[in-house]
Amino acid sequence: MPPAPLPLSGKSGRTADSPITYFINKALENPGLISFAAGLVDEGSLPAAEVGAAAAELLGDPQAARAALQYGSTQGLPSLREKVLHHVCAADGVRPAGLNLSADDVVLTTGSQQLLYLLGETLFDPGDIVVTEAPSYFVYHSLLQSKGAQVLSVPMDDGGMDLDALEELLAHLDRSGESGRVKLIYTVDYFQNPTGLTLAADRRPRLVELARKYSRKHRILILEDSAYRELRYDGPDLPSVKKFDGGNEYVVYASTFSKPLAPGLKTGYALLPKDLVAPVLHLKSNHDFGSTNLAQHLIDRLVASGAFARHVEDLRAVYRHKRDVMLRSLEDEFGDCPGVRWTVPAGGLYVWLTFPDEVDTGPGGQLVPAALDAGVLYVPGEFGHVPDEAGRVPKTEARLSFGVADPARIAEGVRRFRTAYGRVREGTAKELVGV
Ligand SMILES: Cc1ncc(COP(=O)(O)O)c(C=O)c1O
Repeated sequence: MPPAPLPLSGKSGRTADSPITYFINKALENPGLISFAAGLVDEGSLPAAEVGAAAAELLGDPQAARAALQYGSTQGLPSLREKVLHHVCAADGVRPAGLNLSADDVVLTTGSQQLLYLLGETLFDPGDIVVTEAPSYFVYHSLLQSKGAQVLSVPMDDGGMDLDALEELLAHLDRSGESGRVKLIYTVDYFQNPTGLTLAADRRPRLVELARKYSRKHRILILEDSAYRELRYDGPDLPSVKKFDGGNEYVVYASTFSKPLAPGLKTGYALLPKDLVAPVLHLKSNHDFGSTNLAQHLIDRLVASGAFARHVEDLRAVYRHKRDVMLRSLEDEFGDCPGVRWTVPAGGLYVWLTFPDEVDTGPGGQLVPAALDAGVLYVPGEFGHVPDEAGRVPKTEARLSFGVADPARIAEGVRRFRTAYGRVREGTAKELVGV
């Protein structure tokens, strides 16, 4: 007799395997594939020597080594909290006090993903509303689904989230008496995953104004996920949304050392509104009572010695080149394809393609198998969207990451993608004329 079913929680029942697992497995099964799907970072530029030197120095000093090998605090290493606070404030050209911030408002987490998770645990009950960009970071959508939160999305244009549309949505919810369910607005405002788009400078203060304006029964918070801020290849560093939250009341600024340093260190950080720090720490205490202390000590040294800042400069050159190769290859291969468009990201790791209406880029469409057959992998754009009321998601988009493949493979991968697209178009053309 089979055993009785597992006594899974409601939350577990709402949590499915990420659709991306299929794509990661495909890449692992077939090393010949060129994967534009994985969100991993460039392998060759990972700072092995710098981390090695910092580790040797740390572990060579018995007292420092013991401090790093002991449990740390739930909130994280004080000296690193000071450093990240200064890092963010220096980028914004402000003093921490000017934003009502101190190192007591900083929490170090196991990657920024843990912060996203903890904030979800802290804020959401089933039925609460979270507003996101369309498309958005699909792992965050999974997290919201598992919390039972309702996701409402706002379209994007070249300047990131469309704030007129956001205001319309918030006003509508206000009129229908539902604004009390809105807890959070989520934005990946620098070189977004998945589109590569950035929230325009003039929208940043307005976003905070909108959150403030529609905060009736409770505050509507903004989660500013700045995971890619340091990976900037063109143009000036835009001020954070946090910079316009002078009282430190509305904006959670979340970021990470994963992208600009090393994901293996899995260390993220957040600058939190003062009264949100304790609730987040209570949950973190239940969760792990502190992220890996050793990684925090290593990063603390790398920031103090200037190795982190130098590494970010080097990385920018590496990724700028890769991005340029991808954009040039797209121009060469798809430049003459009517209806095919793509974003030109000024940073980050992603380019977002839009195909003509009749091309289905989804897992059930023709482009995925054609691309696999040609030896290239992409992420179907529909994973970044939540279905609308009629259950529809846009099915004509694709995310390409230029993070992992080397420049020659990027060019080759785009050629393969063009081959796959050509085959699908031929098939579609035949269908249209009934062949
Ligand atoms: C937009 C965004 N936020 C957060 C994360 C989480 O990264 P980590 O937990 O490694 O800091 C990622 C990872 O890809 C991401 O793309």
